[in-house]
Amino acid sequence: MITAEQLYGKLKDIRVGNPLCQFTEQICETLLPTIERIEELKREKNAIILVHNYVAPQILYGVADHTGDSYGLAKKARESTADVILFAAVRFMAETAKILNPGKMVLDPNPDGGCTLADGITAKDVALLRAEFPDHTFVCYINTTAEVKALCDTCVTSSNVYMIMERIDNDKIYFLPDRLMGENVKKYLQAKGVNKEVEVYDGTCYVHEEYQPESVDQVRHNFPGVEILVHPECSPGVVDKADYVGSTSGMLDHVRGSDHESFFLLTECGLTGILESEFPNKQFVGTCTTCRYMKANSLEHILNVLGNPAPRSIIELDPKVQQNALRCVDKMFSYLKD
Ligand code: 13P
Ligand code: SF4
Repeated sequence: MITAEQLYGKLKDIRVGNPLCQFTEQICETLLPTIERIEELKREKNAIILVHNYVAPQILYGVADHTGDSYGLAKKARESTADVILFAAVRFMAETAKILNPGKMVLDPNPDGGCTLADGITAKDVALLRAEFPDHTFVCYINTTAEVKALCDTCVTSSNVYMIMERIDNDKIYFLPDRLMGENVKKYLQAKGVNKEVEVYDGTCYVHEEYQPESVDQVRHNFPGVEILVHPECSPGVVDKADYVGSTSGMLDHVRGSDHESFFLLTECGLTGILESEFPNKQFVGTCTTCRYMKANSLEHILNVLGNPAPRSIIELDPKVQQNALRCVDKMFSYLKD
């Protein structure tokens, strides 16, 4: 188990974000009893804790067994032999863990943790679209509910969307729900000379849609030599100006392997915090955009849910939805075999 000193060592260089992401040794000491209690419960219940890269740093560094992007964490959930999987992120990620490993108890400490993408489309919307576009392959971003996944042909994540869309054996694709990601993939396919008719749904991520191409120009001008990393949920105008486009873990890995000294990440600022902790001597041009849903996770909620989960925090799926959603998510894994 981590000590207060070790925790402070991980958190002390984080500057980005709001004051809630900044830590003193004293704060770390006050967090320790809750962290200890969570660790005890993990042992008692044979539980693991999966934490998305955007979640608050005291959770990432204090109690996580695995951290990562939505793809990496889905894989961890799928492979887990623990009895209980607690997923500190947003609802669709916890649901995906249940889809992939239905025999486990999957706990969501943040049951109201929506996502503007996942909340922007219902199964009924998809059913109507399928009737309107009967010849299209329906591709859903992982940021969707289990009910929506159950009606789609394959799922994708930000780490594999370009590759899977290229590999799909149909020249007619309906991509949902992220319009900006869909437009980015369309441009990518066109640039590669891959001829596909791609229809896109009109959803967006409220965090990533805010970034403007002008901000990228301004940062390049103010910080010569800066490397600019962008999440594919950003608009094509922003993505076109990036040095690297990828998932949250893709961006972390890219910085870890880069010789550059300064970086600007256009994504939720938790990611920049992780890098500030790992590379205190490099420069990170801060964005202060937080995802309110991811940041709604807390150590207190995790402790309460592990100790005595309320029914709303235990993921339950209709068996038919689970089966069909699994077919959809498994299809994604099948594209990634070679
Ligand atoms: P990643 O899979 O890249 O972590 O993205 C999840 C997400 O919700 C980004 O906003
Ligand atoms: Fe959803 Fe955007 Fe938050 Fe990611 S950052 S969970 S896409 S609202």
